[in-house]
Amino acid sequence: MRIGFNHATNLYNERFDNEGSRLIILTKFATQLKSMLRTHNCGELRSENIGEQVQLSGWLQRSRDLGGMTFLDLRDRYGITQLAFNMESNAALCEQARKLGREFVLQVEGKVIERTSKNAQMSTGDIELEVSKLTVLNSSKVPPFTIETESDGGEELRMQYRFLDLRRAPLQENLALRHRLALAVRTYLSSASFLEIETPYLIKSTPEGARDFVVPSRMNEGQYYALPQSPQTFKQLLMISGYDRYFQIVRCFRDEDLRADRQPEFTQIDCEMAFVERDDVLALFEGLMKHLFTEVKGLDLPDFPRMAYDEAMEKYGNDKPDLRFGMEIQNLNSATQGKGFKVFDDAESVLGICAKGQGEYSRKQLDALTDWVKRPQIGMRGLVYIKYNADGSFKSSVDKFYTQEQLGEIAKTCSASEGDLLLVLSGDDRLTRKAMSELRLEMGGRMGLKDPSKYAPLWVVDFPLLEKDEESGAVHAMHHPFTSALPEDREKLKTHPLEVKANAYDMVINGVELGGGSIRIHDRSEQEQMFDALGFTKDEAEAQFGFLMKAFEYGAPPHGGIAFGFDRIAAMFGGTDSIRDYIAFPKNNSGRDVMIDAPAPISDEQKKELGLA
Ligand code: AMO
Repeated sequence: MRIGFNHATNLYNERFDNEGSRLIILTKFATQLKSMLRTHNCGELRSENIGEQVQLSGWLQRSRDLGGMTFLDLRDRYGITQLAFNMESNAALCEQARKLGREFVLQVEGKVIERTSKNAQMSTGDIELEVSKLTVLNSSKVPPFTIETESDGGEELRMQYRFLDLRRAPLQENLALRHRLALAVRTYLSSASFLEIETPYLIKSTPEGARDFVVPSRMNEGQYYALPQSPQTFKQLLMISGYDRYFQIVRCFRDEDLRADRQPEFTQIDCEMAFVERDDVLALFEGLMKHLFTEVKGLDLPDFPRMAYDEAMEKYGNDKPDLRFGMEIQNLNSATQGKGFKVFDDAESVLGICAKGQGEYSRKQLDALTDWVKRPQIGMRGLVYIKYNADGSFKSSVDKFYTQEQLGEIAKTCSASEGDLLLVLSGDDRLTRKAMSELRLEMGGRMGLKDPSKYAPLWVVDFPLLEKDEESGAVHAMHHPFTSALPEDREKLKTHPLEVKANAYDMVINGVELGGGSIRIHDRSEQEQMFDALGFTKDEAEAQFGFLMKAFEYGAPPHGGIAFGFDRIAAMFGGTDSIRDYIAFPKNNSGRDVMIDAPAPISDEQKKELGLA
């Protein structure tokens, strides 16, 4: 579905100039920027403007003193314009310009002139401003790092001075991209009758698998709010209230270990629909993602294939497969076991992948790969390789145990041909599959198969409803406890709960889980049964979720939805998997904001007031 959106995107006539991918946003409403301090922005002037008298305001990025001439680069978020000061024609002004430091805030007036030496790398490179008046709006201390496309500042320092880092072009581009995505989301969903409705931040805990951040209540001593891990229960209540299509671009809070794609506070595009079945939800939100790609990237995505969770685990070893390349995992149990190699014979699973055309891997490369799988994060005891030589023979690390014919059999199972390299891991099925999934991704990276310009989306469906914690034996909901079972599996919930499949789905692109959701339970007794399967007593279920179950008794429509990780979408559109660069003020890996120095202790007085001391 393509929504009429052009009036909105046309506000932005964007383009990247050559100057280190500086995003210049030229708006046809540029004149809106016009104020007492500027007539144009710093990315806007071209040869067409030559001869015009203009005013610019911005930050001094760089100055060059060439004796007779001084040049300043004036920057704002739209670009850079060169300011020229001529010693001969205006010595006093030129002297003034020479004294200015980096990041001073300037306002200048002058005439647009043609440059004698043009800079094709800059969008404003054909012109410069012959300055006739210069006002220093504010001075600046020398910044602790250079504020240019490439900065010389380390991560920690740049986080401390995030307000300066945010002046850099790449971060400004990222936040502009995020804004355009939010705009496109709102337009698409609004056109499809969704209402954006806010839900509270001070709530009671919603179990989404992570720990809650809690907030003590002054007025209710000894009691705590929880910050929402997601608005899950509220959006379901809104369905019961008759707001049949809801969305919200909303902050969520999860106290969990952080990684490149996880922040303790992050943003979801949270959505819910009433009177729908799974296919309705998938169609609408596949449409949303296609719309974002067309509007923001100018790319048309193909229809998203669907893959059952079991198939994803079998072929790729995880539930968010990167489908930019094949290299599927093969089970080699029957081809390898019973031939006298104890390691394989004793293993629950022997799994292999075929790295196409990598038969020339050197001893050194194979040793490095073996060390790689032995790292604690991967946790394998070793790696077996089989090279399929160009002459049709095989060379392997297990030549002692397997004949050439037997190695040929293994190669056949992996559909290998001459010049390929087979990599084999063995052990407990779950761990080995996980390790093989990592090895596949690693090899994909080494072989250049993770093409950043390629997008391979899919829906992963039919997840297990419940999962058992290996250590504690406790049963958890794989998505959350409000997810319904596939209709055909509902009967099994009492008898074989772990075999029940959920009516749940994840949207995955290039190995990143961008979103997930489900068709919900909307019947009180079914919800009670689910809590029972999860080991809740009746009283516990009532105490935590009585409000929802009560609401189910007052005409709850069938409903379902999804939530996308908005930061992850922004990072994917920007071409990285680190979401931090797409959040204006993120936390570091220890969950700290090093700029404002939070979290921080509170005073005894404050603690007393909150009933904490
Ligand atoms: P889920 O927990 O799968 O589902 O979250 C939805 C999406 O949010 C993103 N995400 C995160 N992004 C950044 N940092 C984090 N810590 C983080 N955690 C999750 C992921 C994920 O796919 N209420 C359900 C949705 C539903 O059933 O409708 C939910 O929150 O991209």
